[in-house]
Amino acid sequence: MNFEIKHKDARGRTGILKTPHGKVQTPALMPVIHPGKQTLDVSKYGANMVITNAYLIYKNQDLKHEALEKGVHELINFNGPVMTDSGSFQLSIYGDIEVSNQEIIEFQEKIGTDIGTSLDIPTPPFVTLQRAEREMEVTIQRAREALEFRDKMMLNSVVQGSTYPQLRSKCAELLGRMDFQLHPIGAVVPLMESYQYSTLLDVVMASVEHLPDSRPRHLMGAGHPMLFSFAVALGCDLFDSAAYILYAQDDRLLMPEGTYKLENLVEMPCSCPVCTGYSPDDLRQMKKDDRAKLLAQHNLYVSFAEMRQIRQALADGSLWELMERRGRNHPYLLDAVRKLKNYTPELETYDPPYKKSAFFYSGPESLNRPEVYRHLMRLERLPKKGRLLIFPPTEKPYHKHVNTDEDVFFSNMENPDLSKTDDLQIAVADVPFVLVPLEIDDVYPLAQNESPQTTDQDARKFLEKHLKTIINTYNDVIISKKVLDALDLQLETLGVPYKIPNQIPPAAQIISDHQKVDYIADYQFGSGSGKALFQGDTNIIKSKKTGKIRHIYSNHDLIANLRARDGVLVLGMEGARRLHQYLPYPVNRVVVNEDAEPFAREGKSIFAKFIIDCDMNIRASEEVLVVNQQDELLAFGKSILNAEEFRSFNTGQAVKTRKGGF
Ligand code: GUN
Ligand code: ZN
Repeated sequence: MNFEIKHKDARGRTGILKTPHGKVQTPALMPVIHPGKQTLDVSKYGANMVITNAYLIYKNQDLKHEALEKGVHELINFNGPVMTDSGSFQLSIYGDIEVSNQEIIEFQEKIGTDIGTSLDIPTPPFVTLQRAEREMEVTIQRAREALEFRDKMMLNSVVQGSTYPQLRSKCAELLGRMDFQLHPIGAVVPLMESYQYSTLLDVVMASVEHLPDSRPRHLMGAGHPMLFSFAVALGCDLFDSAAYILYAQDDRLLMPEGTYKLENLVEMPCSCPVCTGYSPDDLRQMKKDDRAKLLAQHNLYVSFAEMRQIRQALADGSLWELMERRGRNHPYLLDAVRKLKNYTPELETYDPPYKKSAFFYSGPESLNRPEVYRHLMRLERLPKKGRLLIFPPTEKPYHKHVNTDEDVFFSNMENPDLSKTDDLQIAVADVPFVLVPLEIDDVYPLAQNESPQTTDQDARKFLEKHLKTIINTYNDVIISKKVLDALDLQLETLGVPYKIPNQIPPAAQIISDHQKVDYIADYQFGSGSGKALFQGDTNIIKSKKTGKIRHIYSNHDLIANLRARDGVLVLGMEGARRLHQYLPYPVNRVVVNEDAEPFAREGKSIFAKFIIDCDMNIRASEEVLVVNQQDELLAFGKSILNAEEFRSFNTGQAVKTRKGGF
């Protein structure tokens, strides 16, 4: 296996791809090198890996002989990993090419390509189902043949299927079961050229959902930096750019914000050496070739800068925000970002619940984020009370700032007696998380988020819809007038008649530390987990400095720590034991084989190849239990991958063990 994941966000990942000519960090951009014509040394601008066309080399006698003699790396003067394409694209444009699948595979092997490609058929968008299916069968057949013709080189196999999601999925599924190392997603250039990003979304998702997570995916022909963050968020790892040179030859400058025409520029658009060294007039007065070379350099600088920014965003957990900003650069891209809504549940399973960076609400698209969906699902894990008291948004954490002074409340009860608080759930209504019970308001991302104080129409509708649903599960509701005002909600639409209740005691007096940790446990691990973890005499230790809960013990045995940064429970030995006893197999478990058992018991990290089963609901960054096949507890730790990824990978770390030794 040649690929390892380092960081995850949304459905994207940073990773390391290993090739015979070295390692490459993904997401990565491979500039297209034109064999024989290349004048620019792309490694100077940030390229660690390139792609060139084996068919163009094969067709030209001089290039062919040189490549066979010295190898492709020397031919194109690049000593890092080289991927080659097969001539399929030429096939799609000219309708015919003078090479067979076997010939081009064997040729790529002979010239020492790191990653070769079989002769797939790039079926255009919106052809008949019959044609798409027929051509897909040929693509799959040729991929299968390639496995026989190849010797050592790594192999691409291209997902085709035109704009039929079911064909893309089928193709991905079949290819994914065979021994390929990477999967390009093919024939998407016409969609990108015509700005059909929503269709692109469906095509990419249909493919990615059925490809093994352990192999990099390459969005073929995607070279515009405006699209990179979007494609990465969907799970694409590799991009190739002929755009940098093609746009330059056409006097156009790439930017993550879009494309500029040199003829319209009064200022250069960025801070790269080209833009700081030349004015638009300087460039316009140059000879065409000189100008194109400089514009190509600018195009490479900005494309690689965008890739670096994306990798940083993945490490920080802020990829979604970057993608939303880029989506603002073209209305059709914005459309596609909005249509991510159709994939929220799927994205949620890959998105790590706990991240370094705060959640920023940057517009209605943020309502579709996996974090919001996850919160609404996990609310159902909490203990059920009969009455609900809703406060308006305040500063965070809410429990420190909610205030009943000068507030008017409405209720569906004649005389709501708030002196009895056992059955009372206190919560804050806010954008975008709808309803946040005060017991869990320190947990990521419920405290670690910001939204504008002015509420947009979509957020209002979203809140109204979900609040209504939640309110209907309570017998009685008491709601602050400020909630209705702040969010501009109509009380009638919530179905709660006006009334003013009695005095409401301060929230801090009502919620005990025990209730707090109980709720957090349920929210994190599922209903009833809090009761199981913190049964009997438990001792809650708080920080002297901050007053926050830090540790929960049973006598001298640590049940859990409460992590200050994100309010998440991190299990101790006793906590792991109790949770293991309470949660039925296979919930929250990672099952390892006999070989791994001694290592797990010693507290060593768990590698993916030792995992034989797991709870399919495990997300990356969660606290999980490590057990053997007899469900004996061996260790516990933090998952680095989600359950699907555990299954797909057989190299790399899967669980960072905190402790073994049971
Ligand atoms: N380059 C751009 N699109 C494609 C494709 O679908 N197949 C191959 N082999 N190369 C491409
Ligand atoms: Zn520039």
